[in-house]
Amino acid sequence: MIFEKKILCIGAGYVGGPTMAMIAYKCPQYRITVVDINPTRISEWNSDELPIYEPGLDEIVRATRGKNLFFINNIEAGIKDNDIIFVSVNTPTKTFGVGSGMAADLQYWEKTARQILQYSESSKIVIEKSTLPVKTALAMENILNYKSNSISFDVLSNPEFLAEGTAMNDLENPDRILIGSRETQSGMDARKTLVEIYANWVPREKIITSNIWSSELSKIVSNAFLAQRISSINAISALCEKTDADITEVAKAVGMDSRIGSKFLNASVGFGGSCFKKDILNLVYLCRHYGLSEVADYWESVIRINQYQQERFIWSMLTTMFNTLADKKICLFGFAFKANTGDTRESPAIFIARRLLEEKAEIIITDPKALRNARADLAGVEGKVSFEGDPYRAAEKCHAIAVLTEWDIYRNLDFQKIYDTMTKPASLFDGRNILDHKRCFDIGFNVYPIGKPPLTHF
Ligand code: UDX
Ligand code: UDX
Repeated sequence: MIFEKKILCIGAGYVGGPTMAMIAYKCPQYRITVVDINPTRISEWNSDELPIYEPGLDEIVRATRGKNLFFINNIEAGIKDNDIIFVSVNTPTKTFGVGSGMAADLQYWEKTARQILQYSESSKIVIEKSTLPVKTALAMENILNYKSNSISFDVLSNPEFLAEGTAMNDLENPDRILIGSRETQSGMDARKTLVEIYANWVPREKIITSNIWSSELSKIVSNAFLAQRISSINAISALCEKTDADITEVAKAVGMDSRIGSKFLNASVGFGGSCFKKDILNLVYLCRHYGLSEVADYWESVIRINQYQQERFIWSMLTTMFNTLADKKICLFGFAFKANTGDTRESPAIFIARRLLEEKAEIIITDPKALRNARADLAGVEGKVSFEGDPYRAAEKCHAIAVLTEWDIYRNLDFQKIYDTMTKPASLFDGRNILDHKRCFDIGFNVYPIGKPPLTHF
């Protein structure tokens, strides 16, 4: 079969894998190849058990794999054989040297750029899919166009806005596709090529273009704004607990103002995920770098409130359970950073679990998809931890349950049955406000929601 376009993606992670699967699915006339330095990842993508859980992903991979979607290990062949290269390697927070704990670690990026240069035998369009600090494209261009020969590279920024758990729907029906390019002739031509790829299924009015720096910055700012809303509502949840106001009622009233909007106003134990904290730290670092310390402090406070919210949760458990958790059994309902994913990166559950173990509590973790990652996250941590797939068994003999992920299955459990097997008094800390608090209270639980008056029998 002769394919119209040959597209490569370097980095088969949460972003690269689903995004390329969707392009392959929507564009059978293109050949899509995904390459990764991690051979285990690639063999998992080629197996029946994909390396990530994402609703709807299995079906799309099954429909395209081996037809126009290929997962391979050979990066050299991948670069040589393709004209359009997406790069979605990870860009974690730096853990060493200048900017440690704040700046993005761009070493994988730079290595990838050098590999593209080394193996290319023809001109390419290189697309930044990973979230990167503004001006990264400049470094990319400088590396790629270092040798002046007949091969040239156009660098585009095309940030991915998918959220985990809803990735396939987000990819199929995106709010917008953003493509940033240089405003030179070849930059504009490259931009047009990418627009045409998305136009196979995304309405043209949703495909927006900009200069490359606006595109890079917009992605970080989108994440910062989303996280800021969560920290705003979480900050107010603390005030609600002091004043007998109810955060759900406040969020509803505030969110019905069409200028504010109702989404992302669910108070919680805190936000997690691989992006929000990393991207805000990056933004803070960037602002400091440019001497904008007030701006940096403003955005840093979003992270401080998130940390505070998690601390408050522990504090509430400790103080309401008679100031000691030692030898008490506490069950964590959910470990993933959000529902419908097995991903636990930066999950508040990691912090909560560690703090409970410091208090010498015994913890039992249950989660429908994240137990494998939970085990890895807590490997080597001192204390009594066990993992149990069945929430009913997990809660047996426990003194308390803490709901940390908003999985639907937890809403519909038989809490009478659960209560009957627990040690009394039994406490329920709803870190996601998803349970029927009044009903649980009537069963006998002492119930501690976020941002609402507690319901206790004391
Ligand atoms: C990553 C970035 O973390 C994020 O900032 C960006 O927005 C999108 O890409 P994600 O897909 O969730 O997000 O990361 P991850 O699941 O860790 O996948 C990255 C993949 O790149 C891994 O499979 C890793 O093995 C691979 N990789 C990394 C390479 O193939 N080459 C490298 O040099 C480094
Ligand atoms: C986010 C962005 O939404 C996405 O556009 C970007 O591409 C990557 O980062 P993701 O981290 O996958 O996506 O999930 P998201 O739905 O944004 O949730 C992030 C965290 O915020 C989760 O821990 C979630 O539980 C929490 N959250 C979300 C709240 O606590 N309250 C809310 O109202 C919404």
